[in-house]
Amino acid sequence: MPQDTYYKDHWVEIEPERLDRYEAQFVWGPRGNRLLEPAAIVAGQVVADYGCGPGYLSLELAHRVGATGRVHAFDINADFVSRTRGRVAAAGLADHVTVHHLHGDMLPLADDSLDRLVIKNVMVYVDDPIASFREFRRVVKPGGKVHAIDSDFYMAAFDPIDVDDWRAVLDAGIHAFRTPAIGRKMYGLALQAGFTDVAVEVIAAPDTTGRMLNFIKNMAGYAREGGAYDEETVSRVVDVAAKAVADGTFFALNPQFLVTATV
Ligand SMILES: C[S@@+](CC[C@H](N)C(=O)[O-])C[C@H]1O[C@@H](n2cnc3c(N)ncnc32)[C@H](O)[C@@H]1O
Repeated sequence: MPQDTYYKDHWVEIEPERLDRYEAQFVWGPRGNRLLEPAAIVAGQVVADYGCGPGYLSLELAHRVGATGRVHAFDINADFVSRTRGRVAAAGLADHVTVHHLHGDMLPLADDSLDRLVIKNVMVYVDDPIASFREFRRVVKPGGKVHAIDSDFYMAAFDPIDVDDWRAVLDAGIHAFRTPAIGRKMYGLALQAGFTDVAVEVIAAPDTTGRMLNFIKNMAGYAREGGAYDEETVSRVVDVAAKAVADGTFFALNPQFLVTATV
């Protein structure tokens, strides 16, 4: 894949092993509740899930908006679109959730058609975050909210992975992200997109069980794809992390920035 568009291409085409790893990574659990709180999602709302992945968050949103609400889920990856459709049908929610295969950054929705738009761990990949925020402002009705959740990859911390080793892997794999420091930037980007009411929160929940091991393996893959990497360092990072998970000494922190912009 070409380096300059890898951040997008690696989502459009996902090899089966990585697809299954993502599937496991994105399962929704009670830990996610705090991430959604500022979005104030309630029954009857029309809500979008932008970059829905395998659809776990879309289902959670569908349960929250209930029978009188509606969810629009969007993704650029065809497998995720079909997995989300399958999951929605299996849950008996096909009448309440529409899954769209996106081919660009514009949403096939009328102006002012949503109460909420949730975008979780996707702003880091969009071509132009200001243009995306503007597009979200177009489709959300006055009084509605755009709720963006994302990491800041220069702030993620791991132990006992060596700090310099991690930095080397991050640098070698950084082409997998369009805006790697998106977490700290989203507040300013939302203001530049014309929002005037923007609230920010940061949630940093330590991971001592190894939930982030798949993320570390993904980073190793991105580094190897980039070509400018040292195999010994990349292998050491994955081995140290896996061993620490196995012996219970793993520690990771990946702060989540929550930016809630009211239209
Ligand atoms: C890290 S995953 C997050 C999935 C889901 N939001 C979650 O948190 O469980 C990123 C998702 O965004 C999708 N994606 C990446 N770039 C996108 C874009 N420009 N427009 C829409 N979806 C995109 C990917 O295909 C993938 O499903």
